[in-house]
Amino acid sequence: MARVFSGVQPTGDMHLGGYLGAFRHWAADQHEHDSFFCVVDLHALTVEQDPAELRERILSTARVLLALGLDPDVCTLFLQSHVQEHTGLAWLMECVAGFGELRRMTQFKDKSAGQESVSAGLFTYPALMAADILLYDTDRVPVGDDQRQHLELCRDLAQRFNHRYGETFVVPEASIPRVGARIMDLQEPTRKMSKSVESPQGTVLVLDEPAVIERKVKRAVTDTGTDVRYDPVHKPGVSNLLEILGAATGRSPSEVADSYTGAGYGQLKSDVAEAVVELLAPVRERYAELSADPAGVAAILAKGAAKASDVAAATFARAKEAVGLVPPQGGRR
Ligand code: TYM
Repeated sequence: MARVFSGVQPTGDMHLGGYLGAFRHWAADQHEHDSFFCVVDLHALTVEQDPAELRERILSTARVLLALGLDPDVCTLFLQSHVQEHTGLAWLMECVAGFGELRRMTQFKDKSAGQESVSAGLFTYPALMAADILLYDTDRVPVGDDQRQHLELCRDLAQRFNHRYGETFVVPEASIPRVGARIMDLQEPTRKMSKSVESPQGTVLVLDEPAVIERKVKRAVTDTGTDVRYDPVHKPGVSNLLEILGAATGRSPSEVADSYTGAGYGQLKSDVAEAVVELLAPVRERYAELSADPAGVAAILAKGAAKASDVAAATFARAKEAVGLVPPQGGRR
């Protein structure tokens, strides 16, 4: 059975982009593959966080993942900071990664642009991400399009390590959905929907109430003209709505567009709102139940961490040995 690993940062509210680009595929993957999903809390520390807020966001991210269908009896769900091998292997990855290739990461360029001070952690972020993936002998990494470059780097690092020190890591493949891999902001459809950009009206949150989702979709920026056509360059607003409806209903955006011949933007918006509400309403309900059971969620995360640690410890021991470190006497890792 193929091994799947993916992660999400607990740095903001979870939104429709992440849901359509990644999380809903995780919920499907868990039934077909041996799946590990991780709230990457250490990654969140690469930019300044308020400790109390971070603590709450980590737990609320875990609750959303459970609410949207991750089943702890089927997959392994855990917090990154509960498995110490992530930081250990990240160091080995930093020593294999080049300064130049880290500097070329577009996410680093975007996040550091215009900042007065940038943490070293933000710079080495992709090495930690590579460690996350490689620790689990991962075959497939289901992610949205914005993680493509990080995945390429992860593959390069795995191959370089294997070449230098002998076969140690499985070289993973990115699994990026054909539809919904890059959902755009509803108010600024040339920019991706994102938790780090302040655009409350342009971002549909997974936990938004149905009336709020409806309002945001109905106020989405559309383009000049009236015809519904899939053309991301000339009609980014309408194309984004078609992409959302396609992803929500299992069709390609062009197929969706064909069903609107002669119809206007109004009909499209109503249908998008309805489809998104239908998709997310059950998640909200289940989230409320989980919020009432913090001990239950903590137990799920503890069980996940124990299972993840077993796999991670074996891989990390193998990697340390490969580079020439001396294992402790008595077999302690
Ligand atoms: P993060 O937390 O930003 O996003 C989580 C997942 O959601 C996808 N996504 C989107 N997909 C479509 N349209 C959008 N507008 C959109 N916004 C977000 C992301 O592609 C991602 O799959 N670096 C990662 C976290 C990470 C990770 C890992 C992922 C750390 N280690 C190991 C996979 C494997 C990140 O910041 O994702």
